[in-house]
Amino acid sequence: MFITIEGIDGSGKSTQADHLANWLSAVSDEKVIRTFEPGGWNGGKTLRKFILETKNLCTMSEFLLFMADRAEHLHRVIIPELLAGNHVVCERWNESTLAYQCGGHGMDYDFAEKVIASCSFPEPDVKIFLDIPPAIAFSRMKSRENLDDKHKRDRFEAEGLVFLEKVSSFYHRLIAKNPDKFIMIDCGERQEHEIAGEIMRKLGVELSDEPNSD
Ligand code: ADP
Ligand code: TYD
Repeated sequence: MFITIEGIDGSGKSTQADHLANWLSAVSDEKVIRTFEPGGWNGGKTLRKFILETKNLCTMSEFLLFMADRAEHLHRVIIPELLAGNHVVCERWNESTLAYQCGGHGMDYDFAEKVIASCSFPEPDVKIFLDIPPAIAFSRMKSRENLDDKHKRDRFEAEGLVFLEKVSSFYHRLIAKNPDKFIMIDCGERQEHEIAGEIMRKLGVELSDEPNSD
């Protein structure tokens, strides 16, 4: 299975990806691979740093760099792992590009959608969206960045609360177009274990509804 986790910065994607990967490893015989974008492939660190730290990149370059990152990630990690019969849990995928580059940075949606479709990036089997009020995610990011240098804000995070609100409302527009394609999780002020429990329950139901699952 190819499972993606989407949500704004600070929504809890890494935290929930850990819980999900641990649970999947415990309940299935297959290996579970945890990965992320941008940069979740061997050599991807350099591209990640470039995208996240270069000031004044135009939105088109930013978009195309995320596309290049996804193409490498797909061919070097995701396809080989799925072909090997492993599960892949990935933080961020196409919806991140639509929400951030179109919703956040004003890129034309029809254009972005066409390019994504032309790249033939596969649709995940399951897409999880962590829904959280931007103000809560933003305050988490601020406390995280006080921890140490590793958590310094990247240039997207530095755009602030209004940017996160634009990205969040674009995610909601995307989900409203195709609500059945997402497992929507209301995170609010809930504890991480409670959220993880809901994801496992909903994923368990989804899997038992699959006509070919055994
Ligand atoms: P993301 O990967 O979406 O940026 P993280 O998983 O890194 O989010 O979480 C952002 C911050 O919020 C981290 O400091 C994490 O420990 C904390 N966090 C995650 N889930 C919760 C939760 N349910 N309640 C409170 N804090 C949380
Ligand atoms: P990430 O490391 O997932 O940040 P966080 O853990 O804070 O959620 O992603 C880094 C940034 O890259 C994040 O601000 C969102 C942005 N991004 C895009 O703008 N477009 C994309 O297609 C992707 C994959 C990420």
